Amino acid sequence: MEIVIRPTPADVATTAADVVADHVRRGPAVLGLATGSTPLATYQELIRRHRDEGLSFADCVSFNLDEYVGLPKGHPESYREVIRKEFTAHVDLPDAKVEGPDGTAADIAAEAQRYEDAIKAAGGVDVQLLGIGTDGHIGFNEPVSSLASRTRIKTLTTQTREDNARFFASIDEVPIHVLTQGLGTISEARHLLLLATGEGKAEAIAATVEGPVAAINPASVLQFHPHVTVVVDEAAASRLRLKDYYVHVLANKPANQPF
Ligand code: PGA
Repeated sequence: MEIVIRPTPADVATTAADVVADHVRRGPAVLGLATGSTPLATYQELIRRHRDEGLSFADCVSFNLDEYVGLPKGHPESYREVIRKEFTAHVDLPDAKVEGPDGTAADIAAEAQRYEDAIKAAGGVDVQLLGIGTDGHIGFNEPVSSLASRTRIKTLTTQTREDNARFFASIDEVPIHVLTQGLGTISEARHLLLLATGEGKAEAIAATVEGPVAAINPASVLQFHPHVTVVVDEAAASRLRLKDYYVHVLANKPANQPF
């Protein structure tokens, strides 16, 4: 696991965009996209590089991590819409190649299997962007999710619904159920890129990087993965015990060793 501590959220976005752009340039890349506030600045930076530097996503395919169950198709807060609005509509990634689990499906279990199959058929995810919940969730894998879980329906914790209420008129409008890639599914992506900013994420980041692997902190499953880059700002890094070591490692990163 490589820990990259950057001074500000803007620097986190620049580094994350560098990583994603590397995959895109090496393409054709299968991108794993995440919603939430944290990756927004990264998407803005990628959009800027598309516009100003000709970074092309035309050969990419993307897969969302998760989706609310029960929001009608086209709802502005459905993750399919959010990803379009915040990222893919502003680059040359065709809509037909922007995939997400369908939270309106009549048969959710069948939809979960279809989604797993679609990711496999695309050759698997090359780089998976991840945010992290204050409770350590990645995707919508809440605490005590099986570390081997696959795409399935989950019930959100009250804390996650409170955290996400800012996108809705009230907490009562935040769906209770979601369809999310499992921890086993996410772990199959070839490169995991976890982003976190702000003091509110410091505890979850410390537990993920330095705590025991345990289903109570779902993101700790990343410790099993051979290629993880954690990019955090100073505030999100503030509870890391070995912070000085991570800074030392980065300062002495061998030349030509990409993230
Ligand atoms: P956030 O959400 O980026 O809005 O903090 C992260 C998450 O819940 O995965």
